[in-house]
Amino acid sequence: MADILDVVDIDELRHQVRQKYRDVAADPNGSQHVHHFHTGRAHAVRLGYALHPLSELPDEACEAFAGVGNPFFWGGPKPGEKVVDLGSGGGMDSLLAALWVGTAGRVIGVDMTPEMVERSRSIAEKMGLKNVEFREGLIEDLPVEDGWADVVISNGVITGWETVISAAGLVDVELANPIDAFAGASGEASAREFGTLGYSIRAHRPAE
Ligand SMILES: C[S@@+](CC[C@H](N)C(=O)[O-])C[C@H]1O[C@@H](n2cnc3c(N)ncnc32)[C@H](O)[C@@H]1O
Repeated sequence: MADILDVVDIDELRHQVRQKYRDVAADPNGSQHVHHFHTGRAHAVRLGYALHPLSELPDEACEAFAGVGNPFFWGGPKPGEKVVDLGSGGGMDSLLAALWVGTAGRVIGVDMTPEMVERSRSIAEKMGLKNVEFREGLIEDLPVEDGWADVVISNGVITGWETVISAAGLVDVELANPIDAFAGASGEASAREFGTLGYSIRAHRPAE
């Protein structure tokens, strides 16, 4: 079977993904653009996010949320932990993580769409959160020091999670909370071709 990179122009694919999320950053509610997925606070509630600390976030911090699962299904990160959010988008998960880890912890959100990074930075600044930072970059060339994170989260970004988890050497993989993330969205029909269930996935480093 041909390798995916033999049949996909990776630069063109990144260009198209950036274009889509540039539109989401500028028009999260889809009043000027058609988004084929759900966005916003009500979507987060439907995915099972705990009402607290979601209620601590201003609407602006939730508007561009476009996840398909709940990385906090098993609870939030602990106070003092260091968290990396892969493909942080509008920043909602990173901001929630920042509230959980508190001033002794730290969160880095990484995203390849500059407009999403700018949007997240501006909201964190307005919220006065000093323990969260947003970096522009690719997950494939992560702008975070190796071994820095205690917890890695990602929502709606990584395909082929089995490969990613086994390549990272993680164990004790758990899947939970399957949710039909695209039901009722305008892109429901095309999403059905690929499977529309969003899962929460948790895995651990092997014990030393
Ligand atoms: C479906 S959105 C999800 C955003 C966020 N996790 C959320 O739940 O709202 C996908 C985001 O991942 C980013 N992204 C996709 N592929 C990426 C990659 N290879 N490296 C960095 N960011 C990526 C996009 O720019 C976009 O903001």
